[in-house]
Amino acid sequence: MNIMQQDILQQLEQLQQDAQTALILATTTESVRDWYSEYLSRKGRLTAILRNLGNLSAEERPLIGKVANEVKSALEQALQERQAAIAQAELDAIRSAESVDITLPGRPQNLGKLHITTRALRDIYAIFTAMGFQIYDSPEVETDEYNFQLLNMPEGHPARDMWDTFYTTTPGLLLRTHTSPGQIHAMREYAPEPIRVILPGKCYRYEAVDASHESMFYQVEGLAVGKHITFSDLKGVLINFANQMYGEGRKARFRKSYFPFTEPSVEMDIDCVLCGGKGCPVCKYTGWLEMLGAGMVNPHVLQNGGYDPAEFSGFAFGLGPDRIALQKYGIDDIRYFFTNDARLLDRV
Ligand code: FA5
Repeated sequence: MNIMQQDILQQLEQLQQDAQTALILATTTESVRDWYSEYLSRKGRLTAILRNLGNLSAEERPLIGKVANEVKSALEQALQERQAAIAQAELDAIRSAESVDITLPGRPQNLGKLHITTRALRDIYAIFTAMGFQIYDSPEVETDEYNFQLLNMPEGHPARDMWDTFYTTTPGLLLRTHTSPGQIHAMREYAPEPIRVILPGKCYRYEAVDASHESMFYQVEGLAVGKHITFSDLKGVLINFANQMYGEGRKARFRKSYFPFTEPSVEMDIDCVLCGGKGCPVCKYTGWLEMLGAGMVNPHVLQNGGYDPAEFSGFAFGLGPDRIALQKYGIDDIRYFFTNDARLLDRV
């Protein structure tokens, strides 16, 4: 072996040592890429050494070529192993950064609840639909004709004072003060068929707002029209409703009242849910709570709805689900319902 061969072999040995040490220090994909370009690429140190092979004779070349190939494949093998190790380390890093510690205690989610009035409405729907009543939707913006006139309250009728309302800027158009105008819509749609409907929805009144009066509140109207409907049917339906809504054995009483669209008219009270009839601030020490207004549909109103009062009779009632909810859940002020304080929902 001549000096030149020895020199090249030494260079190759040195290169291998340097490369292997440098590779151990290359710990990222990027530094491995730099390492490759320094040692193995076409512009790298190995190629630079091999260029000198041209200076050797044809006999001298094979030995050096063999060693050079061994160095090259040893370094390529080391490179592959290093790359695989780096890829694994990077994957492990991602895994541990993104891992979830399942031993941590959970954070409970706050579950939503239905609004108390919505619950009362759903209870009311369930009770009346089980008795064969259909749910009928009617408009919240009404005409003066439907809200008053067709219900026996012509312009200037003193009974209008009971329902002070909000008028729109369109003459004759107002926010309904009760769900009773829906009676006319339902009758006009179904007459002369017998009907049994409840009409739920919002009503509006220009009220002096207090613990039991809101200016926006719900009502559920009930209406049954047929050929042999009597006051006993009305009482039976309402007592059944009260028993299901508040529990069996509630005491109920009917008081005479006045509504222009029913004759005779009554109001129904139940014994106070909170004190059991003994007397408390909620029932104003009377032992009774008003639940609804009701009566037999006035013949005029039947006629306005398209029924012949000589042949047909009917009963109607209007109850206030907000007030029912107050009573049922023992809440002392209706204004809580619209203040959006979720703590209210935890009280029931
Ligand atoms: C009426 O509105 C009649 N239309 C009811 C009726 C229907 C009678 C069919 C006969 C036949 P009244 O104004 O009393 O009646 O209201 C009925 C119910 O609505 C009340 O018992 C009460 O529960 C509820 N209500 C009335 N005003 C308010 C208010 N400002 N805030 C909350 N609830 C109210």
